Amino acid sequence: MTDTPSTPTPPLLSSQNNRRSFLKLLTASSVTVGGVVVAWPFLNSLNSQNTILEHSFVDVDISSLKTGQQITVTWQGHPVFILNRPKETLQTLQDASLVSHLRDPDSKDFQQPPYTQNWHRSIHPETAVLIGVCTHLGCVPTLQLSNKMGGLYNCTCHGSKFDLAGRVYKSMPAPYNLPVPPYTYIKPNIIRIGENPKGQDFDFTKIKQL
Ligand code: FES
Repeated sequence: MTDTPSTPTPPLLSSQNNRRSFLKLLTASSVTVGGVVVAWPFLNSLNSQNTILEHSFVDVDISSLKTGQQITVTWQGHPVFILNRPKETLQTLQDASLVSHLRDPDSKDFQQPPYTQNWHRSIHPETAVLIGVCTHLGCVPTLQLSNKMGGLYNCTCHGSKFDLAGRVYKSMPAPYNLPVPPYTYIKPNIIRIGENPKGQDFDFTKIKQL
């Protein structure tokens, strides 16, 4: 885990440029994979990483995730950003001046489960769960919190920008919003990535583009 705050407050916990660097920066306070509790040193091993990829879900305890903080875990080989969005960010996501600059503000493209096709692209507005893979050529965007528009995800490879709901700005190299994985809350503070809420059958393999 690398602490790289882009602004004095709130803190920023995750910042990566590409998939390779991501493997060195895996972070989670408490992660369970396929029913097995996994500690941080275990995640830091490539062999262990291969083991993790075989499992279909990852449980993440977000109870210690503070406002403005992000942790990154891996699910099925993909980095997954879990961001505790500040109230100001939630207001900004609904701001017409932001929405008018987005390519697909209503998430009409099939890049997320139906149960997250809303203005915040998540189950609970304050917690974003996004696949951290740019839909252009697959780099890992970097979180940049700021007062302007509440912050963004910036893909430094070719300059694509996404808001903090993973919605891509217009006229960017990336054609689609960041994907949202299937996930559910198995306890108020524990997210299971890789499993839909009861009664939902979202198939991640059917999204337009990873
Ligand atoms: S891979 Fe993100 S802009 Fe090209």
